[in-house]
Amino acid sequence: MTLRKGSNVWVEDRNSAWVAAQVTDFIGKQVQVVTQHGNKVLALPENLYPRDEEADHGGVDDMTKLTYLNEPGVLDNLERRYALNEIYTYTGSILIAVNPFTKLPHLYNVHMMEQYKGAPFGELSPHVFAVADASYRAMMSENRSQSILVSGESGAGKTETTKLIMQYLTYVGGRAADDDRTVEQQVLESNPLLEAFGNARTIRNDNSSRFGKFVEIQFDASGRISGAAIRTYLLERSRVVQITDPERNYHCFYQLCASGMDTEKYKLGHPSDFHYLNQSKTYELDGVSNAEEYSKTRRAMDIVGISQEEQEAIFRTLAAILHLGNIEFFPGKEHDSSVIKDEKSRSHLQMAAKLFKCDVQLLVTSLCTRSIQTHEGIIIKALDCGAAVAGRDTLAKTVYAQLFDWLVEKINRSVGQDLDSQIQIGVLDIYGFECFKQNRLVTCYLLKNNVVYGNNRLLHLLKGINKGRLLEVLLESDL
Ligand SMILES: Nc1ncnc2c1ncn2[C@@H]1O[C@H](COP(=O)(O)OP(=O)(O)OP(=O)(O)O)[C@@H](O)[C@H]1O
Ligand SMILES: [Mg+2]
Repeated sequence: MTLRKGSNVWVEDRNSAWVAAQVTDFIGKQVQVVTQHGNKVLALPENLYPRDEEADHGGVDDMTKLTYLNEPGVLDNLERRYALNEIYTYTGSILIAVNPFTKLPHLYNVHMMEQYKGAPFGELSPHVFAVADASYRAMMSENRSQSILVSGESGAGKTETTKLIMQYLTYVGGRAADDDRTVEQQVLESNPLLEAFGNARTIRNDNSSRFGKFVEIQFDASGRISGAAIRTYLLERSRVVQITDPERNYHCFYQLCASGMDTEKYKLGHPSDFHYLNQSKTYELDGVSNAEEYSKTRRAMDIVGISQEEQEAIFRTLAAILHLGNIEFFPGKEHDSSVIKDEKSRSHLQMAAKLFKCDVQLLVTSLCTRSIQTHEGIIIKALDCGAAVAGRDTLAKTVYAQLFDWLVEKINRSVGQDLDSQIQIGVLDIYGFECFKQNRLVTCYLLKNNVVYGNNRLLHLLKGINKGRLLEVLLESDL
């Protein structure tokens, strides 16, 4: 960039990231600028970015139209649009959404879906429905599968965006529903169900997904939804046993404690009675009733096709985990051994064993001892209190993770896959990128936004990748 006196630039600012300024002088290797607030600032020329003085007040709807496509320019454009309630902006075929943190029902009603249906991409205002529509049209006209990647930091709106994409796809690819258990209804209802078991309150988001999710929606040759498959990645297991204030454990535990009948049946009570929940004093979420959420989860289970018996088993297992967490240990007579601490712990132990449908003594043995396989046979070794607690927590985490996997499999089985389907749309909603200083998957890190990226290379990438490698591969690949 060639700088002259009077050049319009962006200069870094501690408070607002970037501030508009104008070059006034050159002092040695430095450039003196005066900011819009009238402050004189010295900066190295490489730290200044050109600024379009004539930038449209309302911003541009596609950032490829910007005179200067640089970080401050992009942020400024998004800010201008956001001020006018325009939360969506394109950068070519990429959609950037800035979280409105308020309900915008007029943006997502049936009328809007109807408008975007079949409209050429870019003709109407930027919208997540336009991306979903473009992928549906591309799938139909090219007869090729598509995938949409939704990425961004925690709380950016990935999951909400994913749900809107699914809502749109079930709208354009749905049949006239005669009962409420059509494939598309089941696909949509899988969301609240997975969220009850895989989402939790964090400092960044009251409904933070603690797992990655890839939903593949299958279509028949005429473009109607014929099946779906959900794959989940890397559930945060540690949250089951360890939480910090003001975060929460997985929603389902609080729902169960507020369920009324189940609370009594499983000898539960207020969440503050349970170690796995009372490590944080946050039990309620603003504007959310745990009891109502419990009913919603139950209803979602009905729609997805989980039988009453299975539902009972699911909540029984959750209750068992809570009782398990309340078992405390005390040093035993032998060196480095442990025993169940007191009557209270014993009653939780009994309840846990009853709910797990296992033998009480066997549970004690598994918690307080370890069996080691040697050449001479099996040796039973006592565990000290610390090791017993660690074993107890591992059991809780493993049971929970298996329950989660079982639930996903159950949803998959009951929604049903269409093995004959030749065309699919995959939607990936994956968290965790916020912990990287920079991720190469999308360059818009640091923003409270999400980026929806439509292409089908991702689908190929995902094939043949095992769970653990997924994140690594995503980060390595320049999509
Ligand atoms: N399009 C939207 N309209 C209105 N509110 C939204 C929208 N997108 C997100 N939100 C609000 O922001 C909150 C966080 O969004 P969401 O749960 O989708 O974030 P996320 O990116 O999935 O975060 P995490 O990585 O923690 O799972 C939502 O609960 C909702 O209140
Ligand atoms: Mg999420």
